[in-house]
Amino acid sequence: MPVCVDPDRVPKRRLSTGEWIPGIGMGTFGSDNYTAQQISDAVAGAIRAGYRLFDCASVYSNEAQIGQIFADTIATGSVKREDLFITSKVWNDKHGRGDVLLSCAQSLKDLQLDQIDLYFVHWPFPNYHAPGCSGDARSAEAVPFSAERFMATWRQMERLRDLGLVRHIGMSNMTIPKLEAVLPLCRIQPVALEMELHPSFQQPELFQYCLDHDILPIGFSPIGSPARPARDTTESDVVDLEMPEIIEAARNHGIHPALVCLKWAVQRGQVPIPFSVHESHYGANLRTVTEDPLSDDEMDAIAAADKNCRLIKGQVFLWEGARSWEDLWDLDGIIVGSSQSQG
Ligand SMILES: NC(=O)c1ccc[n+]([C@@H]2O[C@H](COP(=O)([O-])OP(=O)(O)OC[C@H]3O[C@@H](n4cnc5c(N)ncnc54)[C@H](OP(=O)(O)O)[C@@H]3O)[C@@H](O)[C@H]2O)c1
Repeated sequence: MPVCVDPDRVPKRRLSTGEWIPGIGMGTFGSDNYTAQQISDAVAGAIRAGYRLFDCASVYSNEAQIGQIFADTIATGSVKREDLFITSKVWNDKHGRGDVLLSCAQSLKDLQLDQIDLYFVHWPFPNYHAPGCSGDARSAEAVPFSAERFMATWRQMERLRDLGLVRHIGMSNMTIPKLEAVLPLCRIQPVALEMELHPSFQQPELFQYCLDHDILPIGFSPIGSPARPARDTTESDVVDLEMPEIIEAARNHGIHPALVCLKWAVQRGQVPIPFSVHESHYGANLRTVTEDPLSDDEMDAIAAADKNCRLIKGQVFLWEGARSWEDLWDLDGIIVGSSQSQG
């Protein structure tokens, strides 16, 4: 049994709406390494450990099992619904008119909720990387990003909020050029951007852009996703847990390097959502952000150690000329805001 952390002691972040979100959450994407049962068991343990923020998504194929845990736990009275902050995301094959609402309705049913606290557009690319497709295939219906297409999806996200089915709406895996193209068109601004953020990939410009626009950065893969099977090390062999600056701070504090990554994330001002199915890990991950902060020197050393090393590169699309999924259609000569970027 992990040591329970009082949720009131966990740092919180204020959203642009004035509402609060826990400053650290638990991821629920287990790749192919873990079953939905293992992950929902971990969610149950994490609630007992003191987690209140859970990052879910329809494509993780485990919302029904996790929803049962939420329902059971709330029924016991050990946690109130309003104390939990639950996110979900619309997947790439459900963009556009109509499908966004259906996808949200399915997630609400699976998660056994009346309202999702924060609902994201998972990726800004309709039909790229459809569920179940192999890593080197893309759907025949895949279409490039355009502001016009994205906004057709975002209008449905705004409708979900109008209907009260979601409390907040957010974006994920966006770049500055794409945000520049769509933010002026949004009737309801995103409260958060979920993005890859860890010591070797700090995205300082995008991070600052978010702060400047009152968009909360939520960092996925916060300890560098050490077990991700499709980890692509062709461009770089940086492993966050082996970075000298991380090891040095870990030694100073007598903790595992993973915990340094999480302290760094919370102290920097992003919300990390680490994944683990092991009580000893997820308990320690939560506890570490409530005690013994990194020094300014340690924070500065880690900031200076950024390697601009993205983990999730989407090798399959490199033929488009981009370095990653996120960079697609941001290249020179391609007008992000125009549907003429069809390729
Ligand atoms: N929006 C998006 O497009 C997107 C993309 C990717 C991920 N995400 C979200 O972000 C979450 C986290 O990302 P991630 O799973 O890729 O990466 P991560 O949280 O950086 O890494 C997870 C791995 O770290 C290990 N770990 C966790 N705590 C540890 C500790 N204290 N000591 C040692 N090892 C530890 C876990 O192993 P054990 O299980 O053995 O502890 C697991 O293998 C996902 O679950 C998902 O919710 C969102």
